Amino acid sequence: MNQSVKKKVFIKTFGCQMNMRDSEIIWEVLLGAGYEMAASQEEADVVLFNTCSVRQHAEDRVIGNLCKLAARKKKDPEFKIGILGCMGARHGEMLLKEYPFLDIVAGPSDIYSIREALEKVFSGEDKVLAVKNKKRPRKKVGNVYWRGGFSAFVNIMYGCNNYCSYCIVPFVRGGEVSRPKNEIINEIKELVQKGAREITLLGQNVNSYGKGLTNKIKFPKLLEAVNKIEGVSRIRFTTSHPKDADKSLFRAIKDLDKVCESLHLPLQSGSNKMLDLMNRGYTREEYFDKIDLLRSMVPDVGLSTDIIVGFPSEKEKDFKATEKAMETIEYNSAFIFKYSPRSPAVSACLVDDVSEEVKKTRNNELLAIQKKISYRKNKELLGSRQEVLVEKMSRMSKDEMTGRARNNVSCVFPGDEGLIGQIVKVEVTGASAHTLKGRCVKEL
Ligand code: SAH
Ligand code: SF4
Ligand code: F3S
Repeated sequence: MNQSVKKKVFIKTFGCQMNMRDSEIIWEVLLGAGYEMAASQEEADVVLFNTCSVRQHAEDRVIGNLCKLAARKKKDPEFKIGILGCMGARHGEMLLKEYPFLDIVAGPSDIYSIREALEKVFSGEDKVLAVKNKKRPRKKVGNVYWRGGFSAFVNIMYGCNNYCSYCIVPFVRGGEVSRPKNEIINEIKELVQKGAREITLLGQNVNSYGKGLTNKIKFPKLLEAVNKIEGVSRIRFTTSHPKDADKSLFRAIKDLDKVCESLHLPLQSGSNKMLDLMNRGYTREEYFDKIDLLRSMVPDVGLSTDIIVGFPSEKEKDFKATEKAMETIEYNSAFIFKYSPRSPAVSACLVDDVSEEVKKTRNNELLAIQKKISYRKNKELLGSRQEVLVEKMSRMSKDEMTGRARNNVSCVFPGDEGLIGQIVKVEVTGASAHTLKGRCVKEL
């Protein structure tokens, strides 16, 4: 870059873990090109929003943040603003037209050309629309940039082929592309050298990992390979699709010592009619059978889920079926979402006929049910000893530390900052719906 003074960039990330990792990749590109990190939006020469389109609310938040910058842009035309990520891919040129103060729009697959885009806008050329790639190109930028801490995200695949009828992801992230095993292993080794101890493998549907690769490999085999890497203490992964999660995955969770006993398995609805309309590819009975099998193999597994309430034509009896499913399965935690139509996802053609009020009531009812279940499940752990990776000081007290047990439940216990990054044994002495309380009994 031809800059006497380095330009400062601020990236604000919205959405899921894939976006958090994408923001790191954007840093890999920009730090390599001579840009610097700004400590705040105010001191930045460029603000980039790495955005999410999963529900309307997520997009509204981005637009709210974007509009706050309009006044500054008016005073300072040299200041540049970009919308990257899923909203960029979803709306493309429309964003540049609707928000004339915006300089760059790019999708998730176009983040590798962000350097060229910035060069163009800084050299006074016109605005840049860099939404070109549908599928994610397999690129390695250079050295891995990692935000630090003890936990690192590693993409094992990009995109999604599932086309659940409500979901925007396949449209904005393109079709599935798996990364070769060696590329993943080398990236993890690099991260371990930098200090990462917990690795979370990312994919929209990790169970279909390996398709299209020349060296045939399936996800459990990849877990086996990651399990062998020296310096990795813990392995997590997200997300598993219930139609593809099978015994070989459950066996990997059971047998591989570093793979945590925890699974996020989004149910979405407990009603077969809704599951069919959602194009999920399984019935509630098949889902229940998988949970039974998993629990018979890994009895102390931590389970979490995603649920959508108010999908088009969801009747009270469909909702009750979801309620019943949650009470039967007893997840450790659950994310509950109100349905939001996302064109061009196909369900956007169905009438959004469940009122906002009913969606809200159903959402609150499920949250209340889950809270009781989480509390009950946490109380069952009283007296047990949990292996906790110490992450940070507790927000409530500077004399307490917090981290996650292997089942992914948070755990708070007296301790000091010297423990950060270590794995300790905690005896559980108290429980609330969201956390376990305990005391450190022995460092491992
Ligand atoms: N690939 C992952 C994550 C997808 S997005 C998976 O399959 O689980 C995360 C969650 O957002 C989904 O599981 C779903 O519960 C929710 N979601 C996606 N689209 C939605 C929509 N249009 N309205 C409401 N919630 C939605
Ligand atoms: Fe969306 Fe379904 Fe793909 Fe998940 S599996 S990203 S919910 S289309
Ligand atoms: Fe993630 Fe949101 Fe995109 S959930 S994949 S950032 S639409």
